[in-house]
Amino acid sequence: MCFVHLVILTFDLQTYTGSILVAVNPYQLLPIYTPEQIRLYTNKKIGEMPPHIFAIADNCYFNMQRSNKDQCCIISGESGAGKTESTKLILQFLASISGQHSWIEQQVLEANPILEAFGNAKTIRNDNSSRFGKYIDIHFNKKGAIEGAKIEQYLLEKSRVCRQAKDERNYHVFYCMLQGMTPAQKKELNLGQAADYTYLTMGNCTTCDGRDDLKEYSNILSAMKVLMFTETENWEITKLLASILHMGNMHYRARTFDNLDACAVMHSPDLVTAAKLLEVGSHLLSFYDVIP
Ligand SMILES: Nc1ncnc2c1ncn2[C@@H]1O[C@H](COP(=O)(O)OP(=O)(O)OP(=O)(O)O)[C@@H](O)[C@H]1O
Ligand SMILES: [Mg+2]
Repeated sequence: MCFVHLVILTFDLQTYTGSILVAVNPYQLLPIYTPEQIRLYTNKKIGEMPPHIFAIADNCYFNMQRSNKDQCCIISGESGAGKTESTKLILQFLASISGQHSWIEQQVLEANPILEAFGNAKTIRNDNSSRFGKYIDIHFNKKGAIEGAKIEQYLLEKSRVCRQAKDERNYHVFYCMLQGMTPAQKKELNLGQAADYTYLTMGNCTTCDGRDDLKEYSNILSAMKVLMFTETENWEITKLLASILHMGNMHYRARTFDNLDACAVMHSPDLVTAAKLLEVGSHLLSFYDVIP
């Protein structure tokens, strides 16, 4: 499954004009995304310079200013082609040329590590595969500075939380949190290592070569600070994530209720912990009945 990313530059309410960017992975690190390259591609006619992601972004930005029309850039390509990387490069380019390096620009850029932690996962095609589509609406003022942004996600692959194919992982955030939390925090949530959880081990792969889950966790936390998540909100999110892991370890037994086939949750420490973290009674979480 691959998703299209859409970046809209909003200037006024007239109809969109726009571009389509088809991402192609170069399978090498090219030295073409430097501040110097940004400068070279700024305010150039399309075709004046060799093809480049920055040329597309520059074309959108200056068309918006010249024609007073909203611009739209559709970013397409197969899984692993570079849509997410291209989206980030376009945002970087826009933040850089629109001028003021404001707090709001910083927040737009820092939304990515959070979105990727909760919506990207290692698949057999891409170590950082987006399991959702993204629609980014960037608002500029009349002077061309970024004034705000709205990011919407669609079609998140929810089934990945409970099931992963061979050699694939669950969403990054679970592995990052188990690597990065302090022992005291983990003790409070009754958490161990990734290998201890059914939901993290179905693909038989808990690590990902080239990804540092510990470092990523600190990036996620600092991005959350920039996006102004409070300590309480952070902790509530962590509790929810931990409860998902505990629920994945619960066991079920076939039962019959009113002559209907059903199942019941067996009593276990994971059930008790999940219920505690979700702040409900165990009987509510076990749904029908708890087998002693
Ligand atoms: N322009 C590029 N230069 C260098 N490496 C790149 C480039 N584009 C992509 N890559 C590499 O390919 C990997 C996959 O790219 P990316 O995650 O952007 O793909 P995607 O199209 O978003 O895939 P998916 O549909 O699975 O989300 C990146 O993690 C990066 O290592
Ligand atoms: Mg992607």
